[in-house]
Amino acid sequence: MSIALVILAAGKGTRMNSDLPKVLHPIANAPMLVHAMKAGAALSPARTVVVAGHEFDAVQSAAKEFNDDVVVVEQSEQKGTAHAVEVCREALLGFDGDVIVLFGDTPFVSEETLESMISAKAQNAVVVLGFEAADPGKYGRLMMSGDQLDRIVEFADASDEERAVTFCNSGVMLADRQTLFSLIESVGPHNAQGEYYLTDVVGLARQRGLGVTAVACDERETLGINSRAHLADAEAIFQTRARKELLDLGVTLQQPETVMLSFDTVIGRDTLIEPNVYFGPGVTIESGTRIRAFSHLEGCHVSRGATVGPYARLRPGAELSENVHVGNFVEIKNAEVGEGTKVNHLSYIGDATLGSGTNIGAGTITCNYDGVMKHRTTIGSKAFIGSNTMLVAPVSVGDEAMTGSGSVITKDVPEAALAISRAEQQTKPGVARKLFEILKKKKQKRALENE
Ligand code: UD1
Ligand code: CA
Repeated sequence: MSIALVILAAGKGTRMNSDLPKVLHPIANAPMLVHAMKAGAALSPARTVVVAGHEFDAVQSAAKEFNDDVVVVEQSEQKGTAHAVEVCREALLGFDGDVIVLFGDTPFVSEETLESMISAKAQNAVVVLGFEAADPGKYGRLMMSGDQLDRIVEFADASDEERAVTFCNSGVMLADRQTLFSLIESVGPHNAQGEYYLTDVVGLARQRGLGVTAVACDERETLGINSRAHLADAEAIFQTRARKELLDLGVTLQQPETVMLSFDTVIGRDTLIEPNVYFGPGVTIESGTRIRAFSHLEGCHVSRGATVGPYARLRPGAELSENVHVGNFVEIKNAEVGEGTKVNHLSYIGDATLGSGTNIGAGTITCNYDGVMKHRTTIGSKAFIGSNTMLVAPVSVGDEAMTGSGSVITKDVPEAALAISRAEQQTKPGVARKLFEILKKKKQKRALENE
């Protein structure tokens, strides 16, 4: 049976207290909508429809960025979850299969859980995903009799007795397209919130004599994000899961709870991650590297055998080849660093290409920005850049060339050349001692005056 995915993402999310629509708030640096889309994509759906409304354009582009094939339909007025599915009717015309409804604010449903719903669908017209809630709060309550689900009661409409039920609605629902849209036609807005509830589909199906059941999953999968506190919970759930996956893959995390990962972080086995490392989006770390404490990485690639940090910052476009050393207080941006090259202390390397086996002395800076434009620095292999060299780009330093410490390099340095550009040293014998004597006398005089 083929599957169509419907993801509801039109709501404003008032309780987020934000200008950003709720579904675009990030978890592990990707919008929560993208996490929901990823969850559904595991089923290889024949069609994916996202329902957007509040901040339509922004939601549409986030959805399209993840998957250009999705159809984004507009629900201009948010009249409830049943109405949100109703606006997909046209987009699903001609689709002959099961429709699975996910919520854009419920990002962590697992593939196994969705598969178990599909299995339960064999004996039932409608399948709902439920969970035992430690704190059922405002979730809809699932009213079971035996293995059949009789109806879902929204919190706002529930009696005290119904509110005491802890088996709750995740919002995920599965039914074949025709049944789903035929049931939705009968949903009315006669409830405490005056909304068209998708949850009413359950009672309506039972009235028609159709089988409805609920499949249960772990509460962590169905966390519905309605507030910043929920968002923080979701981040914690994601991080815990992602760290565990890395440990299982053979990555050492010395203090896992201090390492922050992104939705797309890739780290090879036998890499050692020291405490307090932050992985922003777009990071790939090959096997056998060491990422030392307090480093911040995003949009970069670190090859086998490299060491980074402590206190290093790798920004987008940093490409480190094998066995590169990047040390403390070094920032690298949009730069390729060749095999075995060392940038060990207090440097900024931006918009640059560095060859292999080169040593970049402490405090070296590529002066890549002239206030208007960015320029490139090119350094060859086996070069030696003296400490505190300013490389005023555009500039190049050839293979096996050298720069003197403290130089400001504004002209290209050819292969094997030594470039020095600094004021010549003057040495005056005995002058230091004399100067000390003069200064000490001055100090004494001042002390006497002040008595
Ligand atoms: C909903 C369920 C509730 C369930 C809970 C799980 C209904 C009536 N209630 O309640 O049983 O326990 O989710 O988290 O379904 N949306 C639209 N258009 C609308 C209304 C909502 O696209 O007109 C989208 C929202 O953007 C959101 C999702 O649907 O992504 C859920 O809406 P929300 O208002 O958060 O529903 P809850 O009150 O949480
Ligand atoms: Ca919700």
